[in-house]
Amino acid sequence: MSRPDVIIAGGGVIGLMTGFALARAGVRAIVVDSGMPAATDAAAGMLAPSFEGALRKAGDDLAAFGRRSLAAWPQLAALLAERTGVDCDFAKGVLSAAFDETEAAAFEAGHEGGEVLGREAVLALEPFLSPRVVAGRYSEEDGQVDPRRVRAALLRAFQQDGGRLLRERTIVEIRTVNGRMDGVTLSDGERIGAGAVIVATGARLPALVDAASGGALRPLLPEGALFPVKGEALALARPAGGPRRVVRTKGAYLCPKSDGRIVVGATEIAGDWSLTTDDARVKALRRGAVSAFAALEAAPEIARWAGLRPATQDAAPIIGPALGADGVILALGCYRNGILLAPATADAVAGLVCDGRMDPLIAAFSAARFNPLGVS
Ligand code: GLY
Repeated sequence: MSRPDVIIAGGGVIGLMTGFALARAGVRAIVVDSGMPAATDAAAGMLAPSFEGALRKAGDDLAAFGRRSLAAWPQLAALLAERTGVDCDFAKGVLSAAFDETEAAAFEAGHEGGEVLGREAVLALEPFLSPRVVAGRYSEEDGQVDPRRVRAALLRAFQQDGGRLLRERTIVEIRTVNGRMDGVTLSDGERIGAGAVIVATGARLPALVDAASGGALRPLLPEGALFPVKGEALALARPAGGPRRVVRTKGAYLCPKSDGRIVVGATEIAGDWSLTTDDARVKALRRGAVSAFAALEAAPEIARWAGLRPATQDAAPIIGPALGADGVILALGCYRNGILLAPATADAVAGLVCDGRMDPLIAAFSAARFNPLGVS
């Protein structure tokens, strides 16, 4: 195969969005996708920076990055629809509902975005919500997409612009010589060279192999810097009397999709690499959904699944050059917000690859924060 300019490890939303940005800029890119279940396909697709505590916990830079990425979504969804004919099911509006005074008081005290609403205003937005609701917080700017449609659209657009996809293969090693990336080795033994490698593999990482020291293996990140947080979710058939938009409650969030599903999520189990679902935990999510919308009591379950969120100790992503491996760029660790953060992440990584432009906002997401020994 002809030598690409860039190899992207990972065909989830981060890898494909980055591939699309690069292919549009005329870069010859290959995406290598393992075919393992991607976090993208497990996600509910919320674009909700006003409500995601993980974004605020990680600081102002991540909150600003989330806002910037949210702002890119309407135009991006329109572009993908025009280019590919795939409707990403982009919709605006997220409501968080409080069912007691303690939850309502947290809205007033919080630093989140959105407008605090009284009971009547909440019920005007969501007439079928349980009458036990006491208050809400609403953002018209936050919203949702359907991640599986987004992934399909991105793949089509990437390929239309000359990008190539290698399916069912994994990058097992990124080869380096004297600290410089020299290419990758695939799971079938094939070797490919490129000017840069972008690692967007979610929670699973390829290893670095240092040819200059006799093939010694080095981890791409220090132990524990990146870990899975399993999330379980289910889809219910959308009844009359369900939510009209994304509704978040203490017990579950509900994301109604235009294809007739309501995606209900999600559990958080740190360190669990399995993709099995636990019946008791899924039932608890369903109870959370039913306590918000009684009409869901009889709604048939369409599917249930689990996915692995790629998480970091400080809940911020890792975006930027890898340490000690020139030519390797990391786009990892978007945790609960991979779909939201994909446009801004792709833009930042494409800027690095195309003209060495370091987006000031991603300085805070450097891998150096996990490197107490100061390896550069
Ligand atoms: N973005 C919501 C979740 O990860 O469950």
